Amino acid sequence: MSVLIIGGSTSTTSKSEIILDYIETRLNRLNINLSRVNPSDFKPSDLVNYNFASEDIQRYQQKVASADVIIIATPVYQAAYSGALKLLLDLIPQKGLEGKTVLPLATGGSLGHLLALDYALKPVLSALAASRLLSSVFVTDDAFERTDAGTYRLADTLAQRVDTALDELFSPVQALARPETTSARPFTDSAAEFSALASA
Ligand SMILES: Cc1cc2nc3c(=O)[nH]c(=O)nc-3n(C[C@H](O)[C@H](O)[C@H](O)COP(=O)(O)O)c2cc1C
Repeated sequence: MSVLIIGGSTSTTSKSEIILDYIETRLNRLNINLSRVNPSDFKPSDLVNYNFASEDIQRYQQKVASADVIIIATPVYQAAYSGALKLLLDLIPQKGLEGKTVLPLATGGSLGHLLALDYALKPVLSALAASRLLSSVFVTDDAFERTDAGTYRLADTLAQRVDTALDELFSPVQALARPETTSARPFTDSAAEFSALASA
């Protein structure tokens, strides 16, 4: 199974990237092919000019094409996802998410834009023909704790929310069940099960 992580923040102290760091660490324990991209990996002129001749852009497109699962985290900027993320999404060909499962996450300053992923990002993912769109995860800045070093870390409650989203992501059977009848299962077990299903 192949998973691609896409970040939408180029901030050096990015909170949405902290969530992706956590997810990357969890997924690295599994036997999956994992890649990660961020707008800052590309030459800005390649991104804004949609330079399809760029090798970096072509490599990114290949990663998207070969991914079974795409995990996207973006900051909320002016009530929507980041413009930098849009540049990356615009480089995905028509129907480029067909057959893929997508987990969208966002960080925002307040709950005021709780639905930003649903009304702004999800329609774009649907237009790209994503086959399975998981419930979005919206996190406010106060869910992060400051460390002694002055950086941020995920609070335990936030880590649990992310784990729950990963459980849904890696458990297709569980995802079809009604939430109230779904019993919590360990992330690693369900991921291994999905891995086995994907390679069957
Ligand atoms: C230019 C700009 C616009 C923002 N607009 C919003 C907004 O409309 N709604 C909101 O909830 N937070 C907004 N925020 C706050 C960020 O979404 C929030 O701090 C987020 O965690 C930043 O993510 P990052 O650290 O990964 O870049 C904005 C921040 C910036 C810098």
